[in-house]
Amino acid sequence: KKKIIIDTDPGVDDAMAIFVALRSPEVEVIGLTTIFGNVYTTLATRNALHLLEFAERTDIPVAEGSHVTINKTTKLRIADFVHGADGLGNQNFPSPKGRQIDQSAPAFLVEQANLNPGKVTLVALGPLTNIALAIQLDPEFSKKIGQIVVLGGAFLVNGNVNPAAEANIFGDPEAADMVFTSGADVLAVGLNVTHQVLLTDADRDTLAQSGRKFGQYMSKILGFYYSYHHDSYGVQGVYLHDPTTLLAAVNPSLLTYTEGVVRVQTTGIMRGLTMFHNSNRRFEELTEWSNKPIVKVAVTVDAAAVVKLVMER
Ligand code: BDR
Ligand code: CA
Repeated sequence: KKKIIIDTDPGVDDAMAIFVALRSPEVEVIGLTTIFGNVYTTLATRNALHLLEFAERTDIPVAEGSHVTINKTTKLRIADFVHGADGLGNQNFPSPKGRQIDQSAPAFLVEQANLNPGKVTLVALGPLTNIALAIQLDPEFSKKIGQIVVLGGAFLVNGNVNPAAEANIFGDPEAADMVFTSGADVLAVGLNVTHQVLLTDADRDTLAQSGRKFGQYMSKILGFYYSYHHDSYGVQGVYLHDPTTLLAAVNPSLLTYTEGVVRVQTTGIMRGLTMFHNSNRRFEELTEWSNKPIVKVAVTVDAAAVVKLVMER
């Protein structure tokens, strides 16, 4: 079984991705690490613990991640208007009973990569700060972690924070650029793909009526997220960013990919833009591009198959 760690800012679509992971026999979830994004890090940790308690999987450790960006100075952008003030659709869940482990998220990531070199898949569903910190902590981390599957970027399409940037990259652009250029086996799933994957209003009704624990829970917390999508995008459904990315780790053949260099714009009005450079054409004189490692970027997705798996699981 593939061992996976989910770095997450739960978050409604994060919650769905975590549940899908726990219900996927192909993978074993060996830990959750938390990060700011949809909510502040403290609340992300609380939500991660709550979700594992709901799933009766408190055997899985939660390691709390960074409270600040990699440069420590960027003002955090918290997307509570997308996911609700509590990150989970304003459902007022009781406090979790459990606690996070004493290790920080970057230390946990480094330890797990060392325990199982080349065998851990890290699924990154929030800003990439913890992963950049793990790279700083251990220069070999990028070689020892198996694969890093990132929900991040908007490749040749508009962002969702502004026309240039997708939220997880915008959350810590310097960290994202470090991860994309680290030499790790990175696979990025961006909005160009996840905006193809819509869970419809009718799908939500099906979940509500399913008589199944995870389906009913999701149908409740999805309410706020649906309202945001109706108002902001005018779509009759919600985009499944994080579940699609999780399923790319579980079953890579659900998507198709291309390869090249990805750099992140860190200044100006394009801050957070992800730029893909096709590896077939080398700009020899430009070391910012020619000397950088190749990563994979998702190009197409079998959206119907993703939605079907999400609904089943
Ligand atoms: C990403 O940002 C967060 O709001 C979602 O959970 C997802 O990870 C989408 O841009
Ligand atoms: Ca997320």
